[in-house]
Amino acid sequence: MATAVVTGAARGIGHAIAGRLAADGFSVVAADIDGGLVEAAAAGWRAAGLSVEGVGLDVRDRAAVSALFERLGRVDVVVNNAGIAAALVGLAELTQEALRRVFAVNLQGTFIVAQEAVRRMGQGGRVINIASRGYLGGAGAAHYVASKAAVVGLTRAMAVELRWQGITVNAVAPGMVATRMLDDFTPAMRGALEAREPSGAAADPAAIAASVSFLASAGAGFVNGQVLLTDGGKCVGMPPL
Ligand SMILES: NC(=O)c1ccc[n+]([C@@H]2O[C@H](COP(=O)([O-])OP(=O)(O)OC[C@H]3O[C@@H](n4cnc5c(N)ncnc54)[C@H](O)[C@@H]3O)[C@@H](O)[C@H]2O)c1
Repeated sequence: MATAVVTGAARGIGHAIAGRLAADGFSVVAADIDGGLVEAAAAGWRAAGLSVEGVGLDVRDRAAVSALFERLGRVDVVVNNAGIAAALVGLAELTQEALRRVFAVNLQGTFIVAQEAVRRMGQGGRVINIASRGYLGGAGAAHYVASKAAVVGLTRAMAVELRWQGITVNAVAPGMVATRMLDDFTPAMRGALEAREPSGAAADPAAIAASVSFLASAGAGFVNGQVLLTDGGKCVGMPPL
């Protein structure tokens, strides 16, 4: 049974990805900084007959990440989903500390997990990084936008270096998805933003999990260094007037 590690799997998009990959037949290691929550989720999946281990893990903690992959040995698929948003703030008020905090999880956490995983992959494997449509740009979130653009840059750089090892590295960039991350918005702001989505609502996390499932599948072996924008097409253009 092939093994997949999913970070930030206790809830939201990561939870949907872990469940989807387990249903696809992977033995899944669901990791999250909230160890209790992810272990409870894993127990639920196991009760449903799926192979899932829940593990408490802070992706910023190099020693803990290294110890996990050392214990697991070779993994076949790594999904770097753990990420944080931050309160909206204009450029003039954005602090270096806020920038550092977001980069520590979104970029450095992704880097640490990917590096520790591919060190032990040998020949063949998949790295799938969860970016965001926000990497294209956006007001009031330069720290988040820059961190996700950096994730895309890291994805492309890794894809080129690792293709000689048969490892593909791709990103999925979701639009607005119905998770706790949206709690940062006031209800009025959230409503206005959802109205601008192609379906008029935030996406179900299952839609993002389906893109990850594709990139993890045998059929996607020739897809490398790509960003799969999974946002219903909002990024392509404006609706008619
Ligand atoms: N929700 C959206 O609209 C949206 C849109 C685009 C991209 N994304 C991205 O999708 C990913 C998942 O977001 P979500 O919406 O499910 O958010 P969420 O807040 O519901 O879930 C994030 C999960 O990551 C975990 N986590 C946070 N910091 C961690 C750390 N240091 N180590 C390990 N786990 C950690 C949290 O405990 C939580 O379980 C993030 O990378 C996010 O940037 C979300």
